[in-house]
Amino acid sequence: QKKMILDLDTGVDDALAIAYAVAAPDVDLIGIVSSYGNNLLDVCAKNSLKLLELLGQTDVPVYKGLPHSSTSDHFDVMQVSKDIHGDNGIGDVDLPEPKRALEEMSGVDFYIEAAHQYGQDLIIIPTGPMTNLAAALEKDPEIAHLIGNVTFMGGALTVEGNVTDVAEANINQDAKAADVVLRSDLPLTMVGLDVTLRTLLTKKETQQWRELGTKSGIAFADITDFYIDAYYNLDIDKNGCALHDPLAVGVSLDPTFVTTISLFMKVIYDEHNYGRTIGDKDRLNDPNPNTKVAVDVDKERYLATFMDLLTNLFKE
Ligand code: BDR
Ligand code: CA
Repeated sequence: QKKMILDLDTGVDDALAIAYAVAAPDVDLIGIVSSYGNNLLDVCAKNSLKLLELLGQTDVPVYKGLPHSSTSDHFDVMQVSKDIHGDNGIGDVDLPEPKRALEEMSGVDFYIEAAHQYGQDLIIIPTGPMTNLAAALEKDPEIAHLIGNVTFMGGALTVEGNVTDVAEANINQDAKAADVVLRSDLPLTMVGLDVTLRTLLTKKETQQWRELGTKSGIAFADITDFYIDAYYNLDIDKNGCALHDPLAVGVSLDPTFVTTISLFMKVIYDEHNYGRTIGDKDRLNDPNPNTKVAVDVDKERYLATFMDLLTNLFKE
């Protein structure tokens, strides 16, 4: 059984990533590390606890990570994040206060402990800024050789960015951290906008959850409908919302959902291209490219699996 850690800035699509990880067979979700991004660190951390309780997963611990990027001393939520994910990060749906408290240990130390304990069995899925993972690598560089796989949602190779012309939101939050991760020896898979923007969910699907009549089915339908409406109203996509974060979870468990190319990826910093992920032209012939970059997706098969897993989960 794979041991999985999610690192989330919870967030509507992060919420769907939690549901996917909980529902997937053969996965032991050993913990969630919290990041900032779609909202403040504390809000994102609490959202993860609330969603776990909604899904009956009170045995999964949530660890707080770092509150802002490695190159800044504070973090403000962007208005566009509130417009897309709601003021509370989860579509302005009110979930009960969680009974379980956050862990005392920091998310950074949890990474290090888990890497030493589980080694190659450990998979890590960052779907927010990679600040926590970068801090863990800097504190204990050895973990790069222990961890089995890191499948991150972030970046773009063949399409434009979503917060600037060149940058995807998660990378843009902390390009320095992404750089630390890309320069490490971690085995990386990049699930970026190239594939996530093509993997859409519509109200036809969320209606199926609503019709289950269960607490989780109705709450997840409400949370996700907010996000689908935002995609429509902000003209991001009129046909549905992107399944960014749950696609990364799916790919980590079944890499055949996507077609990848192996490249030596890097992050650009200069003012005009800040946060851009790009293949390093000087390392095109490197025998050990650092990243498998997803460039195409079998969206029909992924969506069918996603719906099977989540609908069954919400039935309970
Ligand atoms: C990513 O940014 C966040 O807003 C989403 O949760 C997703 O992880 C998409 O660029
Ligand atoms: Ca996210």
